[in-house]
Amino acid sequence: MYPMDQRPIGVFDSGLGGLTVVKELVKLLPHENIVYFGDIGRVPYGTRGRAIIQKYAMQDIAFLLQKDVKMVIAACGTVSAILPKETVKSFTFPYSGVVKPAVQAACAATVTGRIGVIGTSATIKSGAYGKEIRAIRPDAVVIGNACPLFVPLVENGFIGPDNQVTQLVARQYLAPILENKVDTLILGCTHYPIIKRIIGEIVGEDITLIDPGKETARHAAALLQSQGLLSDRKAPGECAYYVSDTADIFEQTASIFLQTDSVTGHIEQVDLDSLQPTV
Ligand code: DGL
Repeated sequence: MYPMDQRPIGVFDSGLGGLTVVKELVKLLPHENIVYFGDIGRVPYGTRGRAIIQKYAMQDIAFLLQKDVKMVIAACGTVSAILPKETVKSFTFPYSGVVKPAVQAACAATVTGRIGVIGTSATIKSGAYGKEIRAIRPDAVVIGNACPLFVPLVENGFIGPDNQVTQLVARQYLAPILENKVDTLILGCTHYPIIKRIIGEIVGEDITLIDPGKETARHAAALLQSQGLLSDRKAPGECAYYVSDTADIFEQTASIFLQTDSVTGHIEQVDLDSLQPTV
């Protein structure tokens, strides 16, 4: 008999992109409570240097642990790519980033071994996706391209499938990926599934898109299951959202990310100065 764990799952991102993981978690594990931290006061992370990203990530994790979560999910490609392996190994709680789950799905999907990765500047510069891909498939050819304008476009609601600004930017960012004839493309940032239709229309049906939200939710669910940490709650789970800027800014865009009419659950602003420096 496995033990059960009624505590919430902790999820964080620099902003709202991590909600694409929350949406998938709610589908897969509807009875789990979730605590989300969105650092909307400091987004974007992906244009910053390693030291700052690491510092912010550790503060975000410390915040979630204060909420007594049973697992931490870094629902942020940038944090997942930048946090050093030794740091992750030292964690005494179940943890998942988005890189590994997305890479495993991409390696399972590719036929030609030519895999594209799009992400923030910090993510692409880190080479983290390429390293993980080659650990599974040493002969893979990995073509990365940074798409720094995608996060601000998404955070500002330029997300409709007919949005001409985002289409134009996406065409330019995706050109090198198309030139290199990949058969699989990892959306290496959790904001990107929101503009998946625009991306999909540009790259065409022959390229398989890997959605980090879906893959990470699946991975986290399997991890909790294997460790006997799922809840046996019968009622639907609840989500509590904490953000580092005003809650109304969050509410405006969050419903689009969660694909609901309005966000239900507790929403609270957190004072950035109150964040603890480390876990
Ligand atoms: N959702 C984050 C990611 O997956 C956005 C990065 C940023 O804040 O620049 O990389």
